[in-house]
Amino acid sequence: MAEKIRPVRGMNDILPDEAAAWQHLETEARRVLEAYGYREIRFPHVERLELFARSIGEDTDIVEKEMYTFEDTGGEILALRPEGTAGCVRAGITNGLFRGQTHRLYYLGPMFRHERPQKGRYRQFHQVGVEAFGPATPDLDVEQILMARRLLQDLGVEGLTLHLNSLGKPADRRVYREELVGFLEARRDSLCETCQERIQRSPMRVLDCKVPTCQEAVAEAPEITDFLGEESRAHFDRLRALLDAAGVPYELNPRLVRGLDYYTDTVYEWTSDQLGSQATVVAGGRYDGLVEEIGGPSTPAVGFALGIERLLALVAPERVPEPHPSVFIAPLDAAVETDAMALAESLRDRGVSAWYHCGGGSLKSQLKKADRSGARLALVLGEQEQAEGTVLVRDLASGEQEALARREVEDHVVHRSS
Ligand code: HAM
Repeated sequence: MAEKIRPVRGMNDILPDEAAAWQHLETEARRVLEAYGYREIRFPHVERLELFARSIGEDTDIVEKEMYTFEDTGGEILALRPEGTAGCVRAGITNGLFRGQTHRLYYLGPMFRHERPQKGRYRQFHQVGVEAFGPATPDLDVEQILMARRLLQDLGVEGLTLHLNSLGKPADRRVYREELVGFLEARRDSLCETCQERIQRSPMRVLDCKVPTCQEAVAEAPEITDFLGEESRAHFDRLRALLDAAGVPYELNPRLVRGLDYYTDTVYEWTSDQLGSQATVVAGGRYDGLVEEIGGPSTPAVGFALGIERLLALVAPERVPEPHPSVFIAPLDAAVETDAMALAESLRDRGVSAWYHCGGGSLKSQLKKADRSGARLALVLGEQEQAEGTVLVRDLASGEQEALARREVEDHVVHRSS
């Protein structure tokens, strides 16, 4: 036998037994998002590297270490998308969407990050993402939080915690950053090596470090929410009032900084205590400056993305509907094949899902397969039935069966499967 080719580390096959759960999640996501007026947008999985560097930020882990980049044969430097916001904004600019109207968009699909694979963290993973463009008001932020809550609820996922913070405007952050750098420099020796390097480059990431000595060192660090300007403060207060009124509990977390540079004002994450170290299921926030930064007209925006693999780990299998046909067609002999296939096709013409057994085999083995298919009825056609102009209709739950005239079978089946 030839040598097997290994799959790429951190990239998974989704087998038919698992696909039903994926489809269920995707269907529910489309249903909920569309009920709020969100419409699907599709954009390429590959973009120019520069797009991600400029939007996600040169100093972020994603751009520095985790991108799949390559030069194509034309000499262009491209990258597999590590997230969807940048591509969605680029598509909006390219196609002239940002002319003052509100756009509510969503997308579904694979993202690629060269991270260390572990449970809940993959190199190809999938997101449902949502981006809305237009209003700068916090009602839009709240609408998205309610939408995420509804989707989680409809999938039967409970016990998530919403962590909330505001990062203010870039000007607020500059003042805060200076304070924070001063604070961190004074404690440089207590920080891990990575954090020491981060002090000047991206000091806010130090707040997020999981190393215990770093966490101890930053316990008393200044908090961004004390540096918010008037406009950001008002936005955050209104957002919280709307969440309170809608009965959405949240925890204020002034340490929540997010791993992407484009955020302004609102940021949030929903975490689960059932997922171990990769606990964040949904994450997002506002990014009022991004459209302009990558060449579009000034357009406020807010969005979130949900990690499909992580969410699926929380969906109970019994909530996933199993696909099954209405009828299973069992041809017992090569001589009846043309009739049996024609019967299957005319049932399908009338909207009945009909699985046809290929490859022959005894009545017993075909009925076993019929049972396993989950069909309600088996239609058995042998030489005897063909000679008599009948089909044997077997109720797979009760085991009762009757021979019906060939011309009555279709109406009977259509009637019983409606
Ligand atoms: P993110 O926090 O990088 O944000 O990713 C969002 C979610 O994708 C995470 O909370 C997690 O559930 C999932 N995720 C991320 N990386 C992995 C991975 N390696 N393996 C499995 N799941 C993963 C964004 O991507 C932003 N674009 C969200 C956003 C949209 N902000 C505004 N609009």
